[in-house]
Amino acid sequence: MRILVTGGAGYIGSHTVVELQNAGYDVVVIDNLSNSSEKSLERVAEITGKKVPFYRCDILDREKLSDILDKEKVDACIHFAGLKAVGESVQKPWEYYENNIAGTLTLVDVMRKHGVKNIIFSSSSTVYGDPETVPITESCPKGVCTNPYGWTKSMLEQILMDIQKADPEWNVILLRYFNPIGAHKSGRIGENPNGIPNNLMPYITQVAVGKRDHLTVFGNDYNTPDGTGVRDYIHVVDLAKGHVKALKKIEDKAGLKIYNLGTGTGYSVLDIVHNFEEATGVKIPYEIGPRRAGDIAINYASPDLAREELGWVAENGIKEMCADSWNWQKNNPNGYDD
Ligand code: NAD
Ligand code: WQD
Repeated sequence: MRILVTGGAGYIGSHTVVELQNAGYDVVVIDNLSNSSEKSLERVAEITGKKVPFYRCDILDREKLSDILDKEKVDACIHFAGLKAVGESVQKPWEYYENNIAGTLTLVDVMRKHGVKNIIFSSSSTVYGDPETVPITESCPKGVCTNPYGWTKSMLEQILMDIQKADPEWNVILLRYFNPIGAHKSGRIGENPNGIPNNLMPYITQVAVGKRDHLTVFGNDYNTPDGTGVRDYIHVVDLAKGHVKALKKIEDKAGLKIYNLGTGTGYSVLDIVHNFEEATGVKIPYEIGPRRAGDIAINYASPDLAREELGWVAENGIKEMCADSWNWQKNNPNGYDD
C-alpha cells in the first residue's frame, strides 16, 4: 500500500513515516515546510534505511497536489498538515481557518477526484473542550473549544464525517491525540518548536539544556491532587504506531471511526517535572505563575476503544517519555539547525 503523508516532515509525521516504513508501507511525503525542516526526512531515511520520497507542496495548491496524485498512485492519506499553535490561532484566526480548513477541503477534493477515498485525520483531545468527566471516552460529547485552532479540528471532524456519510466509499478515521511528547530512541528526530515553546515538555527540555532559566508552572490552584493541570502524555512513537494500526482498519473498510490515542493515565505538571528529573538526573528550576488563559484542569483519555478495535496500546511509560525527550534535546540543542 502506498500512503500519502501530509505534514510528514513535522514532529508526529516524521515519527509516523518511520513506523510506516518499518511496517513495509510505501510512503510519499508532502509538506510546505512552514513549521519543519527537510532534514527530519533525511534522518528518517538514516533510521529506516529507506529513501523518503518528498514533495515540497502546500495542501492549498490544488494543481501541484493533483500532479503529485497523478504520478504517485497512492491508496490512502494520513493527514497531519496543519498549523497547531493555540495562542497564534487566537491572533491569526483567518490564517488558521484558511490553512487547516481550506487546505483540507482542497486535499480531500483532489483525493476524491483521483479515486482515493481513505483518510486518517489528526484530530485532538481539544475537541472535547472542558470535559464533564474523566477518563474521556469517544462517546463523550464534543465541547466548546477555547481557540480557533481547536475549532479547526472540531469543524474538520464534522466535515469529514459528512463527506463519509454522503459517500460511504470513503473510509475516514479521526484520531484524537492527547499530549504527544518524547522522541525516537535514536535521538535523531524529535520536536523542534520555533521560538519560545508553547508546550510543557519542549519548555522543560530547553530549561534542561540551558536555553531558558526556569519553567513557569501555569497555576497551582486547580482542582487536582497537587493543584497543577493534569494531562494524558503519550509517547510520540506509540502515537505513530497507532496510525499503522489505523491503516489496517482502513484496509478492512472502516467506514467512519473515531479513536482516542492516549495512555489513560493523567500526570500533573509537577509530576512531569519530578519524573523528568528522576529519568534524566537534570534539575528543573520552576516558579508558580498565574493560570494560562484557556487551560482546563484535567483531561485524560479512555484508550479502551483503540485497544479493543485497533489492538493498539501505548507501551512507553512516563520515564521513557522524559528520557527520550531529553535524549533528542541534548543531542540536538538547536533542533535540525545544527
Ligand atoms: P508540526 O507542526 O510538527 O507538523 C505539521 C506539519 O504540517 C509541519 O511540517 C508543517 O510544515 C506542515 N504544514 C502546515 N501547513 C501546511 C500546508 N498548508 N501544506 C503543507 N504542509 C503544511 O505538528 P505536529 O505536532 O507534528 O502535529 C501534526 C498534526 O497533529 C497537526 O495537524 C496537529 O494539529 C495535530 N495534533 C498535534 C498535537 C500536538 O500536541 N503536537 C496534538 C493533537 C493534534
Ligand atoms: C500541558 C500542561 C499547562 C507550559 C495543547 C493544546 C492541545 C494539543 C496539545 C494540539 C498544562 C502546563 C505548559 C508551560 C505549564 N495540541 N504548562 N508551563 O495545553 O494540554 O494542550 O497541546 O492539538 O490542543 O491545547 O498542552 O503542553 O501546552 O500544557 O505549566 O510553560 O502544562 O498549563 O497544564 P495542553 P501543554
